[in-house]
Amino acid sequence: AWANVPMGPPDPILGVVEAFKKDTSDIKVNLSVGAYRDDSGKPRVLDCVRKAEDFIISQRLDKEYIPIIGLDSFNQAAIKFAYGENSAPLKENRIAVAQSLSGTGSLRVAASYIQRFMGSNTTILVPKPTWGNHLSVFHDAGLKTTDYRYLNKSTNSLDIQGFLSDIEAAPNGSVILLHGCAHNPTGVDPSPEQWKQIMEVSQRKKFVNFFDVAYQGFASGDPHKDAYSLRLFTDNNLPIILAQSFAKNMGLYGERIGAVSIVCNDVEEKNRVLSQMKILIRPLYSSPPISGARIAERIFNDPSLNKEWLTELKGMADRIIEMRSLLKSHLVNDFNSKLNWDHITSQIGMFCFTGMTPEQVVRLRDEFHIYLTSNGRISVAGVNSKNVRYIAESFHKVTQ
Ligand code: LMR
Repeated sequence: AWANVPMGPPDPILGVVEAFKKDTSDIKVNLSVGAYRDDSGKPRVLDCVRKAEDFIISQRLDKEYIPIIGLDSFNQAAIKFAYGENSAPLKENRIAVAQSLSGTGSLRVAASYIQRFMGSNTTILVPKPTWGNHLSVFHDAGLKTTDYRYLNKSTNSLDIQGFLSDIEAAPNGSVILLHGCAHNPTGVDPSPEQWKQIMEVSQRKKFVNFFDVAYQGFASGDPHKDAYSLRLFTDNNLPIILAQSFAKNMGLYGERIGAVSIVCNDVEEKNRVLSQMKILIRPLYSSPPISGARIAERIFNDPSLNKEWLTELKGMADRIIEMRSLLKSHLVNDFNSKLNWDHITSQIGMFCFTGMTPEQVVRLRDEFHIYLTSNGRISVAGVNSKNVRYIAESFHKVTQ
């Protein structure tokens, strides 16, 4: 029956992980997927997560289906974390929110909502480059995408002029995808001043602002600071759709825990929007899984676990910042690289856009057993005190 089904290409990110796993070399280094590793290169389960799990097990809870939109205590905590406890729409109870399957599931529910209520001809403006899966999620949901300029490749910094002029040229009422903090894959974010410029265009052009916030707390170590752009737009009453993930900041990757929310004008509108979110979710996956929501809910709502979490989160962000400096310092001081590596430390979040060409990426893999995505992105979380010198040396050799 499937004789005509062609072989598909491997995923641009997860396919690199598969290739890494097959490599039998002792010196191999995985800098591909954005998943935190500790200084010994091991995945890290946060202490606050272990404690929340112990508590949940001690409660002997049942495993009934949770509602289509998930656990209410989780949902309310998730939006408080993003929008801030003083947010007007939060206080006025006019944010429609549903627990969903991490960032991707939340993006997909939102994309299907846009497709159904704004129409199939809706075009989403996306930064160039963006996370590869954004394009697949939006296209599979029946939407079109167009790029806006984002990265200035010669300086590895934000092309704010290109960004503003491309969105200025887009039709009024467009949907714009914005990475709330720690842009994936570039690690380049607008400054607070630049966010204000972007907001001014968005407001005038009546855009719907679709925020993807997958790294809140991971960029600076301070979740409030990392929510700056979302809160700026919300406080100025711009239309907001938000996809949140707790994969990275709580280290709950495989639990698939996130939330999708839509800011509405009043409670009555919120109730209508929420009713439609339920109608979209039910045939997609019926209702979300229970375990990650229970863990995240405990971490948000138990004051002592919450405090512990924020310290652990800052610890992860700080380790990444330290590895950025070390990597740059080895390149410049130990190997005397004449290239400019300032972007390693000026970029933020989990990723660094190294500027490696696809050919250099292949050499790093084949000659040095270092795995990164073909666009030259590295996950700095894969760098540690034992492999950083080797990585710097290899980067120097392929760029000499
Ligand atoms: C990444 O970009 O590496 C992460 O967001 C993980 C993923 O699913 O791609």
